[in-house]
Order: sequence, then structure tokens, then C-alpha cells
Amino acid sequence: MGYRVAVVGATGNVGREMLQILAERNFPADDVVALASARSVGAQASFGDKSILKVQDLAKFDFKGIDIVLSSPGAKVSAEHSPRAAKAGAVVIDNTSFWRMDPDVPLVVPEVNAQAIAGYKGRGIIANPNCSTIQMVVALKPIHEAAGIKRVVVSTYQSTSGAGKEAMDELVSQTKSFFVNQTLDPVKFTKNIAFNVIPQIDVFMEDGSTKEEWKMVAETKKILDPKIKVHATCVRVPTFIGHAEAINVELDKPLDEVEARRLLAAAPGVLVVDRREPGGYVTPKEITGQDGVFVSRVRVDPTVDNGLSMWVVSDNLRKGAALNAIQIAEELIKGYI
Ligand SMILES: NC(=O)c1ccc[n+]([C@@H]2O[C@H](COP(=O)([O-])OP(=O)(O)OC[C@H]3O[C@@H](n4cnc5c(N)ncnc54)[C@H](OP(=O)(O)O)[C@@H]3O)[C@@H](O)[C@H]2O)c1
Repeated sequence: MGYRVAVVGATGNVGREMLQILAERNFPADDVVALASARSVGAQASFGDKSILKVQDLAKFDFKGIDIVLSSPGAKVSAEHSPRAAKAGAVVIDNTSFWRMDPDVPLVVPEVNAQAIAGYKGRGIIANPNCSTIQMVVALKPIHEAAGIKRVVVSTYQSTSGAGKEAMDELVSQTKSFFVNQTLDPVKFTKNIAFNVIPQIDVFMEDGSTKEEWKMVAETKKILDPKIKVHATCVRVPTFIGHAEAINVELDKPLDEVEARRLLAAAPGVLVVDRREPGGYVTPKEITGQDGVFVSRVRVDPTVDNGLSMWVVSDNLRKGAALNAIQIAEELIKGYI
């Protein structure tokens, strides 16, 4: 018998990708329900090539009989509706930031800490990490196991899709307006995103870091190892899909680049593309729609003890969000529910 699955936020960037991936991976679902706000009631959502679903109103939906909820409607909405779904008996796999640091909610990247799924029973909720954290910890895991990571310094280059569908539209309209000599004021971003880069994602914290940067620090500790120190600078760039990260690590013991590449290539979910020639590395544009975490530019950093640098790229809507959530669901049905 298959599962009954509800996708919350089904009209959004992440929700649409979830429906696509559920269909692609033949997730054993007997029934899939698409939910969004009252604004979208009656709209159509594609369930891969399999069927078209009519979007229903989350606020009026009764979760009784639903086994798994894949949720991405924003933090405030999840705060209200995820516990309601869990109370009705569903396991909620939530993509928003709201539940990630709750001690009773596991924060899971299956390639890194699948065993943490077992802790879902407290609240009936499993959190999906932030997109920039997911791709980083997948690449860091084999390095940490082999040589112990003491400190990470990361700079991100994050696409507009990470801020939702309206943010992508803003990049399109500002780009168009540039060519007809008009200026469109920013709405979703703090400054113009077209032909620009913005060193702020989410709000500022007291210590001067942004909340996106804090998420990378706190989530890496929760998923991989609380002893790892992380310093992040998160930057929005004018691309549509795919986040890139320049990552520098300081290790407990030396790890040369040949061995690092070998470990990375053998790690689940990681693909190494690292030729020292023009174009011998991966960029966001060429991996859009793919599932892996791609690693390029692996090299020793001789300016610190046991230093290593690498370039890590992944599709933020897939591994950074929808795919990771569905991989959690796949693990869940293997033995936890
Ligand atoms: N994009 C990423 O890379 C990424 C990665 C990890 C996590 N996330 C998180 O996932 C969430 C969604 O991101 P997104 O990029 O998919 O955003 P999005 O494209 O703006 O979509 C938001 C979705 O939430 C729905 N929604 C908004 N308010 C609602 C309400 N009151 N009741 C029910 N549904 C409501 C929207 O429905 P309507 O169309 O009806 O408004 C839409 O389906 C965010 O919390 C985000 O932080 C995103």
C-alpha cells in the first residue's frame, strides 16, 4: 500500500520541485495533495508528467489520513500548520527555518546524519536545513571523517530562486528595465539585484552577521559536529538557480588534494569535476536540474596549518530543498514509519 502525501506550498519554487521529484523518483504515494494559500485555490499544479493536481487551501485542509507532509510555505505559516498536521498523525518534513534549531526536531541531510531521523517522534516534525548548509555539509562530511575539521570559512554565491519565485521575477524585470533605460526599485531585495551582488541574505543579527550566515554556523554544528567553527559570508548574486560556495577548511591533520578528491568522489551525493584547465570546474548554470553536490577547485591552502580550499555547487531547489526533503521521506518509509 502506498502513502498519502501532502505538499504544502505546492505553487512555490520548492513545492513545484517537490511534486516533480516525487513523480521522477516514483515515490510510493497512492495520493498526493497540493496545498497553498487561499489565493491559489483551484490553480493547477503539475505532478511530474503523471497528472495535474488542483490546489487546495492549506488553512481549510484536514490532515487526517495523510502520512507525510512535505512543507515549504514560509516560517510563519509552518509554525501554525506543521504542528496541526503532526497532531493529525502525519510526519511533517519541513523546509522552512522555523523548526530547524528546536532540540526536539531532527535536522537531517541523509548523506550526513540519516540516523537523526529517529528523533522525529517528539514533535512529528523533521527539519530540512537551509539550502547553503545542505550542500556544504555533504561536501564537508568525508573531509571531516578523514582529517577532522576545526574551522570553516565560507563565502556563498546564492541564486535568486533561494528567495522564492517573486525574487526571480524581480531579477527578470530589473534586467529588462536596464535595456530600456528605466530603473525599477528593489522589492524583494535590499538593493538592485540585476548586474549586482548583495552581501545580505535575511536580516542582520546583533553581532553583525546576517541570519543566513548564522544559519550556516548553527546548522552545521547541529548536523555535522558542534565542535566545528564556521565563519560565513552569504551573498546574493544575479543568477536564477544553483548556489556556489568557496569553502576553506582548517583540519586536525594534513590532507593532500589528491586524497581529498578521492574521498570526495567516493562520498554519497558528491561529484568531483576538477580539471586544472580553462572550464575544468562546475558553475551553477550547468548543474541546474541535477541532484548532486559538485566539487571543483580542490587545493591545499598553504597559509594555514592543514588548510584546504574547494568550490562547491548545487541546485538549491533540488538538493538544497526539495530533493533533500524527499530523500528524508524515503529514509523515513524504509523503517521509521
Ligand atoms: N528556495 C530555496 O532554495 C529554499 C531552500 C530551502 C528552504 N526554502 C524555504 O522554503 C520555503 C518556501 O520557499 P520557496 O522558494 O518555495 O518560496 P515561494 O516560491 O515564494 O513559494 C511560497 C509558497 O508558500 C505558499 N504560501 C505562502 N503563504 C501561505 C499561506 N498563508 N498559506 C499557505 N501557503 C502559503 C505559497 O502559496 P501561494 O502561491 O498561494 O502564495 C507558495 O506555494 C521558505 O520558507 C524558504 O525559506 C527555500
